[in-house]
Order: sequence, then C-alpha cells, then structure tokens
Amino acid sequence: MAKALRERWTSRAFFVFAAIGSAIGLGNVWRFPYITYEYGGGIFLIPYVIGLIVIGIPWLTLEFGMGRYFQSSAPGVFAGIGKRWEWLGWWPAFAGFLIVTYYTVIMAWALNYVVASGSVAWGMGQAGVEGAGGYFFETVLGLSSSPGVLGGLQWPIVGTLALTWIIIFLVMFRGAKVIGKVSLWAVSIAWVFLAILLIRGLTLPGIAQGLNFYLDPDFTKLGNVDVWYAAFSQIAFTLSLGMAGMFAYGSFIAKKADVNNNAVITSIADASTAFFAGFAIFSIVGYMMQALSAPVEEVVASGIGLAFVSFPVGISMMPGGNAFIGVIFFLCLFFLGLTSAYFLAYGAVVTPLMDKFGWSRVKTSLVVSIVCFLIGLIYTTQGGLYWLDMVDRAACFYLLLITGALACIAVGWVFGARKFREYVNETSDFKFGAWFDWLIKIVVPAGLLFVVIYGGFAKDIAAPYGDYGNWALSIWILIIVTLGLSFWLQTVKTRIPKGGEEK
Ligand code: PHE
Repeated sequence: MAKALRERWTSRAFFVFAAIGSAIGLGNVWRFPYITYEYGGGIFLIPYVIGLIVIGIPWLTLEFGMGRYFQSSAPGVFAGIGKRWEWLGWWPAFAGFLIVTYYTVIMAWALNYVVASGSVAWGMGQAGVEGAGGYFFETVLGLSSSPGVLGGLQWPIVGTLALTWIIIFLVMFRGAKVIGKVSLWAVSIAWVFLAILLIRGLTLPGIAQGLNFYLDPDFTKLGNVDVWYAAFSQIAFTLSLGMAGMFAYGSFIAKKADVNNNAVITSIADASTAFFAGFAIFSIVGYMMQALSAPVEEVVASGIGLAFVSFPVGISMMPGGNAFIGVIFFLCLFFLGLTSAYFLAYGAVVTPLMDKFGWSRVKTSLVVSIVCFLIGLIYTTQGGLYWLDMVDRAACFYLLLITGALACIAVGWVFGARKFREYVNETSDFKFGAWFDWLIKIVVPAGLLFVVIYGGFAKDIAAPYGDYGNWALSIWILIIVTLGLSFWLQTVKTRIPKGGEEK
C-alpha cells in the first residue's frame, strides 16, 4: 500500500526553535517570576530544577520520542500502542483545542494594547493605578458581573482576534517547513524584546530592591508542600506538555535524528527564558515600589493582572520612551504567545485530524482557524473573562495533568518504558540510564497526580472553583464531554495509513 510521506523539519535548528517556541509563552513572563517570588525566592530554583529533571525532561522526551516512533500525532501514537488506547491521544488534543481558543484571545488583548501604546492609554493616566485597572476591565473587556451575563462582543478584541487567527493560519497551512522558519524568527524577536525590557529595567532606580524580592532565598520554604506543588505545576504547564502537540512535533523529526538532547535543550531554553524574564519583571517592580512608595504586594501580580494592569502602570511611570517600551512589551507577549498558539492549533488539532481523516493541510488549517475563531468569540464578550478562567482550569490544569499522567502510565507499562528508552537512546547524542524507566513509570505520573489532587480536587470539591457558583460545574462538564468525544473518535474509522516512511 502506498504510504504518504510524512512531513519533516528541514533542519535541527528549526525543530528546536519550534519546540522552544511552543514551550516559552506567557507563563514564562507572567507566572514564573511571581511564583519564584512567592515560594522562596532563589530557593525556589531547587524544587524547580528537580521538577524539570524528574518530570519535565522525561515527559518531553516521551512525547517527542513516541511521536517519532509511530510517525504520528497523539491519537495515532496511542492507537499504535493498542487500538483501545486511541482515546488517550484525543483527550489531550481536546485540551490543546480548548486552550488555543482562549490563548489567542489573550494575544488579541496584547495586540490591542500595542495599538493603544501610541497614547499610552493603558497607563495609569489621571486616575492612578485604578486607572490602569479600569482601562483593562472596563474599557477593554467591558467586564460583566457574572459568567451568565455575556453582554455584547467587544469589537476591538474581535478585530485583533481575527488578525491573530489570520497570522496563525498563514504560518501553519504550509506545515512544519514554514513553522520551523517562523519559529526561529519569532523566538529570536521575543528574546531581543525581552533583552530590551531587561536593559530598560536594570537602568531604572530601585532595581536592588526589586531583585531582592525576586531571588532572596527563604530556606524555610523548602519543607513546605505548597512549594513543591507550585514547582511541579509550573513545570507541567511551561513545557506545553499534556496537550498532544509535542507528539506531532516529534513525528516530524527525521528517523535518525536526536531526541534526548533536543528535549534537554528545549527544557533548558525554556527555564532560562523564564529566569531572565524574572529580572526584567522584578527590576520594574522595584522601580514601581520606589516611585510609588508602595510595598511589594501592591505592585506585583501574576497572570493577566501583571501583564495588563501592573506592568502597564510601571511602563507609563517611566521617565521617557513609554510608548516605545509599551509596544515592545506587548509585542513581546504577542510573539511569545504566537509560537505556542500555532503549536497548539497545528500539533494538537490540525495534524491529528489530517492523520485520522486524510484531509488536506490547507483545508484543515482553514477550517480549524475559523472554528477556533468563532469559539473564541465567547471570550470576547463581556462575560468572557470568566469563561476564559473556567476553561483554563478545565483544560490547562485538569486535562493537562490527567492526560499527562495517563500517557506516561500507558507508555511506561503497556508500551514498555525500557523499549522506549532503548529506542530513543539509539539515535541520541547521549543516553538515558535505566533510572529513566522509573521516572516514566512512577515518578512523573505520581508527581502529576499529586498536583491534580492537592491543588485541584482537594480545593474545587470543597468549594466550587472561582466565584462562579454553579457555573463552575462547566469545568467538570468539559472534562467529561471531551472524554466522551475521545472515546467516540476512537470508534471512527481511520481513513489513511498512519504516518509514512521517509525516502
Ligand atoms: N507553555 C506556555 C507558556 O508558558 C503555556 C502553554 C500551555 C501554551 C499549554 C500552550 C499550551 O505560556
């Protein structure tokens, strides 16, 4: 039977940059620095690095390596392990799909802020810090009172969301070849922008104070379970695992190419980006503390509060070049997001659909872009932020961790950890020892389940997530519905021979 040729990365550098681009994202800038500050400063690097070694690297190697082994995206990988496991590839694909529908909306906010930089509209203006909060929540989002009150669409965001999807489509409709090249540029540009922010931050008054908060070690924290929880959950999130995409990216690796070393390079590049972003963020935090004579708690935040409220205030207070630094900061967020967004759209959605149904790349990319854009409209309504938050909890916490743990169990115990290790070692620059098997079989699943139970079930069952009352049930509904759909897809006939041989 004729087999379709699998597409390939056209060079090792393109692959590595595509992988780094998918890993580095908003989380490196708005989550890592804050978590480090919150959980022991410099000391937090210990659990973080341990998490990277015992969870991040083995899990990333697993996704790359299994993708390469079966020459297929996630559903084909698990169908390859055994037909009855195919759902285990679809479930994380749904996670990736859900995530990209709202991740792109955050990118759309960032583009909006780029446009508003001319007038520094997002700054604190006359109304002080509340001004910046008001601008974001009222002017940009028009936030309603509850998830049940959707209100109207916020048209400026709809516009930049459409633009975002056009860009994603243009990058992905020609596949890995173009994705690799664009990633190299996008990651480099994001790094240059981060460097500019870092230099700006380090030349402002107050940096010593800020960096002290970032890295001052607090040894007492190490004994605290929360610290380990924070480190492991950040590792799981930051490498963009558990959402199917890395299997697809791995399936484009040439048959004889390295896996292990590429996984290590990707992990180290991701961690270093986060570490350096922390200097940029905290030097500006120090500057704000000094300029506003405010304590650290008042000026530091994580997540959207940092990116769209605190940081804009900091930028607007700078002695000069505010509009320029604003453009750099928000474009940096956009580029960081872009490489993760097309990774999800292409690796978690388009490639699995092509592998399963034999659809053409152009058509699949187009349909996926349009459908994701349309679903994304929900988050551009006035109640959208609440939905974004709940879908994030379902997909980027529960689904990511649960499917990740199950994938490691399936590969470790059903496919065989040792067989896997020998396979990846064969072509890799360096070899993993037998200890690797136990990481895959026990440590990674246990670490991920610890995070789900300790930070998830224990909290959300005691009290519904967020302040959304019964609306928070949507989280469980999404988890169950996507599981059901995954089983259903398993029963659907696969249209083309999976994968293909290289010439
Ligand atoms: N790793 C990305 C970040 O740090 C987050 C992400 C998670 C992106 C899942 C895509 C998918 O921002």
